[in-house]
Amino acid sequence: MTSATSLFSPVEADLRVLTENLKQLVSARHPILFAAAEHLFGATGKRVRPAIVLLISRATMQELDITPRHRRLAEITEMIHTASLVHDDVVDESEVRRGIPTVHSSFGNRVAVLAGDFLFAQSSWYLANLDNLAVVKLLSEVIMDLAEGEIQQGLNRFDTDFSIEAYLEKSYYKTASLIANSSKAAGLLSEVSEELAEDLYSYGRHIGLAFQIVDDILDFTGSTEALGKPAASDLKSGNLTAPVLFALEEKPYLEALIEREFSQAGDIEQALAYIKESTGIDRSRELAAHHAQLAVQHITKLPPSEPRQTLINLADYVLSRLY
Ligand code: IPE
Ligand code: IPE
Ligand code: MG
Ligand code: MG
Repeated sequence: MTSATSLFSPVEADLRVLTENLKQLVSARHPILFAAAEHLFGATGKRVRPAIVLLISRATMQELDITPRHRRLAEITEMIHTASLVHDDVVDESEVRRGIPTVHSSFGNRVAVLAGDFLFAQSSWYLANLDNLAVVKLLSEVIMDLAEGEIQQGLNRFDTDFSIEAYLEKSYYKTASLIANSSKAAGLLSEVSEELAEDLYSYGRHIGLAFQIVDDILDFTGSTEALGKPAASDLKSGNLTAPVLFALEEKPYLEALIEREFSQAGDIEQALAYIKESTGIDRSRELAAHHAQLAVQHITKLPPSEPRQTLINLADYVLSRLY
């Protein structure tokens, strides 16, 4: 399997600059917020989102170099993503992220909420400074969508009537919106046609959906150690993801276990066994593959180049990633 690092070779140097800049951009006035941010950007995530922004920037600028604005957009995208993770870990009560203790487990919930707010605020400031109203509109919508996604997830815990359509809508808000809108924004900074901008949006939307479906599969199949974040946590907290929703169609008793919120001894183990015996995980993989394929179809109009090829390969990487 391709690791994210070798896959991103056309923008590897750009990603190195990005990592350095991110640490400097978060110039928190308060030492504790600074410590929280340092802590986050010190432990590198996969940087999938800024890599996509940079690859689209390079694929649409062709022989011209990418501009400082393209770079700043990639940084803002990672900053928004990281802010959402800090808040997500508070909501999910997760103790580990990127292989290290989460901000709330190191510094407490109050600091984590403030640090997340601070990162969102700071990303809005850098966004405004891009001086491109269309891009500001796209990325500020993302910040609303992230909150919408977390709210939809929170309101539907343990709801066995939750449909695959509703799950995909929630996943759009939580995950795909950021990738879709930042992909389109990278195109706008390169002054691509309206039509290509829409294609870039669709590429990001489908990659984002595939990415979240795979993340939800990994919650069942991955280990905490490999993932760098807690495994097997979605089901326990009532977050019914694709594998569970498909399994519910085959295993009627699973519904009863979920409805009583796994209140009896052995319920969780029994539910996990039902899911593993069902075709839920295979059907989720098929759903992810379907979206990865749709993503690729949307970038066929980009002129052939190494970054374009990497964007195509990324669809396979998303499906085969192990963390
Ligand atoms: C985690 O995103 C949140 C999801 C949308 C599944 P990543 O898996 O990209 O997290 P990092 O940035 O690599 O830590
Ligand atoms: C993604 O959801 C979080 C956001 C995009 C806000 P998850 O809850 O699935 O992310 P992980 O699994 O904690 O990384
Ligand atoms: Mg989470
Ligand atoms: Mg998850």
